[in-house]
Amino acid sequence: MSGPEAAGTRRRQIVVAVIAIAATAVLVIGLATSRSVAAGPDTAPSAQATGYLPSISDLMIATIQPRHERIWRAEQDGNWNFAAYELGNLQGAFKRLGIAHPTQGDISLPDMIASVTGQPFQELNNAIKSKDATAFTKAYADLTDACNSCHQALNHGAVEIGLPSRTSASDLKTNSTSRN
Ligand code: HEC
Repeated sequence: MSGPEAAGTRRRQIVVAVIAIAATAVLVIGLATSRSVAAGPDTAPSAQATGYLPSISDLMIATIQPRHERIWRAEQDGNWNFAAYELGNLQGAFKRLGIAHPTQGDISLPDMIASVTGQPFQELNNAIKSKDATAFTKAYADLTDACNSCHQALNHGAVEIGLPSRTSASDLKTNSTSRN
């Protein structure tokens, strides 16, 4: 089969495919609607329904802190690819944090994030790209300082971030100095 006949067949196949996709979409929407109507009170409410916005500390624990730790662990294991991956994700998490919480008090969070993390992120990026362990150590310490400088600036100096260690992957320092 060739020429106009083949083209006609192809067109028909395309038309059939488009109808099939449309029908599937209608079915899926229908199912979703009937399910949400049928859903009882046990179903988890949507974020919109509850108006739940994760707080800054929720986001710190869920999206920032684990990635700060993972970047370190990746480098310790010489896994530069994973370090690069987590660095990208950490930057994305900070961006989303600034969108979710544009201000803290009267301070712009995105501006604050940019001013404290800009340089360490650049240095980390270079160190990871060139697989330079010495540069990484310095850049990682600078990033950790950036965490703490924001915590201090925003009156949360009690949250002290440090370097993870081989014995504890946690970066949270609750025992560095006596608080009594
Ligand atoms: C732009 C400011 C800013 C930067 C940068 C920042 N934080 Fe935070 N972080 C906060 C604020 C504000 C809080 C306190 C939020 C609250 O309790 O209301 C906080 C709290 C935390 C907490 C405590 C959360 C809890 O509930 O126990 C952790 C852990 C944390 N940050 C980790 C980090 C790490 C790790 C970094 C660096 C990679 C970092 N933060 C960088 C603003 C920042």
